[in-house]
Amino acid sequence: MKKKLVALTGAGISAESGISTFRDSNGLWEKYRVEDVATPEGFAANPALVLDFYNQRRRQLYTCEPNQGHRGLAALEKEFDVQIITQNVDNLHERAGSTRVLHLHGELTKACPVDNPSAVYDIPPGVDLSLGDTDPRGVQLRPFIVWFGEAVPMIAPAIEEVEKADILVVIGTSLHVYPAAGLLHYAPNGRPVFLIDPKEVATGRRDILFIRAGASEGVKQLTQRLKTFG
Ligand code: APR
Repeated sequence: MKKKLVALTGAGISAESGISTFRDSNGLWEKYRVEDVATPEGFAANPALVLDFYNQRRRQLYTCEPNQGHRGLAALEKEFDVQIITQNVDNLHERAGSTRVLHLHGELTKACPVDNPSAVYDIPPGVDLSLGDTDPRGVQLRPFIVWFGEAVPMIAPAIEEVEKADILVVIGTSLHVYPAAGLLHYAPNGRPVFLIDPKEVATGRRDILFIRAGASEGVKQLTQRLKTFG
């Protein structure tokens, strides 16, 4: 029976693939105001601006490749029952080969009607989402993204996964945004919690096994250290 390894990832795991993080210097939130492009109010006030913001990020996504951090996590599926829980809206975990990926904050490559976040449509590669793009009922489509202030429907299944983890690994997140950041505290007592980040990350816990490195190097070091847990 393989041990269950749950990986909670954030923007940092995609940084080496060329995708900006949010809160590092030169991050996305230095170029755009969150309230303008990542809230329902922003979308209501200027839907074309918001659709363009996500169209630009989606176009960029198709110029990026998974890095060794994504691929290293996918490779761990040989030894462990791996569940990825990501705050990222890119599809790099899937493209690296991870087979179980739970997106807390939605997915760039998907859309939903403005009145029903559970009716999800794929946006084919190379296609933009524009005003006038509707579902069969004629209702405008919006990015399938959880904006600030909106419900995070996948948080309940995510908590269930973390509560069953034998090993928890946190990679590339500043743990600023809840409820995602709160997942850290659902790991069963006594289970190892690794945290991979080139910077210090405040966790409120003293038992964290820090790996101070970027995702590619960090996942390589993690894989070595896990040989004693397998
Ligand atoms: N490898 C690993 N971690 C890295 C790397 C790297 N190469 N480069 C930067 N990091 C770390 C940073 O040190 C930081 O701790 O990644 C983290 C990025 O933090 P944020 O930019 O805050 O991204 P994230 O934690 O994913 O943001 C959470 O906020 O804006 C919302 O919905 C958005 O999902 C996002 C959420």
